[in-house]
Amino acid sequence: MSGPKISIYPGSFDPLTNGHLDLIERGARLFDQLIVAILRNENKTSLFTVEERVEMLRESVRRLANVTVEAFDGLLVKFAAQKGARVILRGIRAVSDYEYELQMALMNRKLHPELETVFMLPGEAYSYVSSRQVKEVYRLGGNISDLVPPIVEQRLRDKGHI
Ligand code: PNS
Repeated sequence: MSGPKISIYPGSFDPLTNGHLDLIERGARLFDQLIVAILRNENKTSLFTVEERVEMLRESVRRLANVTVEAFDGLLVKFAAQKGARVILRGIRAVSDYEYELQMALMNRKLHPELETVFMLPGEAYSYVSSRQVKEVYRLGGNISDLVPPIVEQRLRDKGHI
């Protein structure tokens, strides 16, 4: 197959963490183009709106020329096909992530066999960082400045109590 290698990095990113950012940087080195795709999920209650998450992500990846950020809804494989992507990129931190990722990857393969899921490991320093815990630690007054990009910390502060 020829043409640029386009990869999709999908997720909720509520909010973006330094672990996500580390994976984006690694993916950007591996693929010609990386599209960070934020799921618009009406069923899931989120802290930040999709528009806020798009803004924070765009700001955080501005220095990476081959990375773009978009929101999507519906099936990920359909969005990936529309974008001409052949790879779905996901990060695996620990064994505990594996089962969920395996199910998702196999379902996506069933739906769209030509699309490969590629797993990458974030830097060890981020292997314990999750959006859920970042929100909890922030809510309880803990310091999260090493765990999220500066704009995310600022936007959390702007929200006041969460
Ligand atoms: O960061 P998350 O919440 O673990 O990301 C999950 C995400 C967005 C990758 C996943 O929920 C997804 O792709 N949803 C879109 C709907 C879809 O395609 N479902 C079938 C695959 S399981």
